[in-house]
Amino acid sequence: MKLLDKVAIITGGTAGLGKATVKRFIQEGAKVVFTYGSNKASADELLGELQGKPVDAIKADVSCSDDVKKVIDFTVGKYGRIDILVNNAGTFDKRKNILELSEEEWDRVMDVNGKGVFLNCKYAIPHMLENGGGTIVNVASVATWSWNSGGTVYCCSKHVCEALTRRIARDFGPQGIKCNCINPGTIESNLTQACISNPDDLIHQVVKKVAAGRWAQPEEVANLIVFLSNSESDFMQGSPVLIDGGWSLL
Ligand SMILES: NC(=O)c1ccc[n+]([C@@H]2O[C@H](COP(=O)([O-])OP(=O)(O)OC[C@H]3O[C@@H](n4cnc5c(N)ncnc54)[C@H](OP(=O)(O)O)[C@@H]3O)[C@@H](O)[C@H]2O)c1
Repeated sequence: MKLLDKVAIITGGTAGLGKATVKRFIQEGAKVVFTYGSNKASADELLGELQGKPVDAIKADVSCSDDVKKVIDFTVGKYGRIDILVNNAGTFDKRKNILELSEEEWDRVMDVNGKGVFLNCKYAIPHMLENGGGTIVNVASVATWSWNSGGTVYCCSKHVCEALTRRIARDFGPQGIKCNCINPGTIESNLTQACISNPDDLIHQVVKKVAAGRWAQPEEVANLIVFLSNSESDFMQGSPVLIDGGWSLL
């Protein structure tokens, strides 16, 4: 088992990539606390599926510092430490250019995809340092490589995620924090459901052209998170890792 007895917080564990990551971490022997935004029914369903395993779910908005602290306090209270933080929770935008984009939409997406990563790292890192180190995997996007995946604010928010990854690796790598991010292409999930169900959607057209010629399943991207979370990847620091089926080559 690659994550035996490791204590992990996974944000946004009720759907898509987060849910697949929760399941893979449990399979690899980790103790998991996952968060969700609003979908309690999905959280309960996943807890039911993993009954008997070391897993907890907490409703917590990643962009609210009190909620983030609540999750961290719960985890440290229960297990005494945090070994791994996966900043997965995210939201998509309405693919607007800057003139079409409203201030409210900018704030909504930046709060979740940017500030959410900032807050979770800010409050988890001190506990990791107390225990000699820890591992952070941030979920960015191919949107930092290809300008036609999301709209203005989604692309900007994922650049924030990637920049935080590098800065944290630079600042805290020497003290034992390993921090990398992944940059997925098209994953079948709730987030992309509208694109999947509309054959005229731009992303649907892109999927036909990429080398892989298909959408990724959440599980195959979760495997990369497992790799970046265990000691096999210990020489990696501040790396953005593409897993995009070849989108960035178009
Ligand atoms: N799908 C893709 O093609 C793709 C491509 C590149 C990158 N990504 C990134 O991969 C990550 C996961 O995406 P996904 O496709 O798996 O999305 P998803 O199916 O929509 O799931 C998103 C998860 O994030 C949670 N969440 C959303 N807003 C939250 C908030 N404010 N606080 C706490 N949790 C929140 C949701 O919880 P509730 O449902 O309970 O609110 C859900 O568990 C995101 O960061 C996304 O940007 C996805």
